[in-house]
Amino acid sequence: MKIIAHRGASGEAPENTLAAMALAIEQGADAIEIDVHLCQNELVVIHDHHVDKTTSGTGPVLDYSLAELQQLDAGQGQRVPTLWQVLKLAAGKMEFNIELKGHGCDQPLPELLQRAIDELGYRPEQFIISSFHHPMLARFHRNAPQYAIGALTACCPLDLAKFATDLDANTLHVEAEMVSKELIADAKQRGLPVYVYTVDRPKMLNELKQLGVDGVFTNYPQRSRQHLQQH
Ligand code: G3P
Ligand code: CA
Repeated sequence: MKIIAHRGASGEAPENTLAAMALAIEQGADAIEIDVHLCQNELVVIHDHHVDKTTSGTGPVLDYSLAELQQLDAGQGQRVPTLWQVLKLAAGKMEFNIELKGHGCDQPLPELLQRAIDELGYRPEQFIISSFHHPMLARFHRNAPQYAIGALTACCPLDLAKFATDLDANTLHVEAEMVSKELIADAKQRGLPVYVYTVDRPKMLNELKQLGVDGVFTNYPQRSRQHLQQH
């Protein structure tokens, strides 16, 4: 089961910061999940539309210039990084699940990923792009079909695996509460790996491993891996 560091190793370092990315790499995560928004024309790594919850600032990300945004304290003296800074830190040696959060943030992404491939040594297979905003995700997929996309779903009364297939997604990302034996079987039959968020509880890790899920998003990559190795 793949260990995906959720917002970096965000249980032990401020989420979506370079410190959280460095810790996830150090802890041997298989991949890192990050959230992106547009700030002017730059893609920045932050979860919410507003900066209030994770930084010293207030108001929407969109109201900030990049210079202003990067003056804020994102926890323990960390700054809100750009996507480029994060990709540079991992220097082509990590897989990333980039979650499109902010409106329009799909637009500059293909060019930035191409630059990461050309200048930092990444391969296209190291990226999965996901989003709850399925029309935006579909638009990204049309514009840049060389990258895998993940159908990110929340609690909803849909046939989730069919939904992902209809979206032409390569992976299905589901909330832990939505996972069932039937869903895993359906996804497997469709050739869809299933990644589950957000899983920190040992008991849940065991249950998901038993069910045969392909990966988990966890805030504690090291602890989760150690637990899985011992059980
Ligand atoms: O991509 C999985 C998970 O990160 C989705 O929820 O709110 O943590 O971005 P959220
Ligand atoms: Ca996310």
